[in-house]
Amino acid sequence: MSFNVYVTRQIPEEGINILKKFCQTVEVNPHDRPLTYDELFRQVKGRDAILTMLSDRVDAALMNEAKSLKVIANYAVGYDNVDVKAATTKGIIVTNTPGVLTDSTADMAWALLFSIARRIVEGDKLTRAGKFIGWAPLMLLGGDFIGKTLGIIGAGRIGTAMAMRSRGWYMKVFYTTHSNRNAVLEEMLGAKRVDLETLLKESDFISIHTSLSEKTRHLIGAKELSLMKNTAYLINTARGAVIDEAALVNALKNRQIAGAGLDVYEEEPRLKPGLAELDNVVLAPHLGSATIETRTKMAVMAAENIIAVLNKQKPKNCVNPEALT
Ligand code: DGY
Repeated sequence: MSFNVYVTRQIPEEGINILKKFCQTVEVNPHDRPLTYDELFRQVKGRDAILTMLSDRVDAALMNEAKSLKVIANYAVGYDNVDVKAATTKGIIVTNTPGVLTDSTADMAWALLFSIARRIVEGDKLTRAGKFIGWAPLMLLGGDFIGKTLGIIGAGRIGTAMAMRSRGWYMKVFYTTHSNRNAVLEEMLGAKRVDLETLLKESDFISIHTSLSEKTRHLIGAKELSLMKNTAYLINTARGAVIDEAALVNALKNRQIAGAGLDVYEEEPRLKPGLAELDNVVLAPHLGSATIETRTKMAVMAAENIIAVLNKQKPKNCVNPEALT
């Protein structure tokens, strides 16, 4: 049909193939980099759908430019990069990719936890530098997991999957959530819902899984970091701005906490000054959902959401159902 779709980054071809079957024009950003805001602005005119990345700012001005736009399919579960309110006002449907990246992101949180608490990156650097001169009783000592306390900030799908994986280490689990109590965690792990202050004070490992909103921006700042044990580790695979990154740099520098594992940054892809120089932090380039299987499922899901909207059907993963009316 004569639909016109723009995809802001190359994605697995399974998604593109679905779009091509149904739409006359499917154009993909040919560059191996994100588009600038101005480039995206120039691309949206005349498009019926755009398939966007979490790194694309999709604001009201851009939507004004896209007069025929019917759907913004964000290639992520998080959609804080999209002005959903503006989209709803304009009757544009916004979709995301929930569920399919839950396990890969929970795995990533554990990968960061292991990397920082068992000092794997430091060890790798030392070994490559030819400084491994033999086994030593006091070399690169980290922390144990067994029986420790895991604090989950935001016990939604990913937070729950992260916590469930702690069974292997018989951990005590605390969690916070802005919605109802998490029956799965309570029944299967004996997890306890607590307030943020208790979680920060009591946990040995804290993993952030809350979405970014005005309520959660800088949820973890200097005061919150000061409540953590100085032997505790902080992991963030959610959104960078949930942590005040400058405050985190100070806390890590002053050894107020033992370490951090970060997959996301406040001003992604830029890092706050000083962060990259620290040895008690492991830094990943937003790899939470980066497995072949997951990224393929996300591509299919985003494409199917687009096709549903263009077919005047309800997409499976609509974040603003009000726009459907
Ligand atoms: C998402 O989908 O929001 C994740 O951050 C991707 O890794």
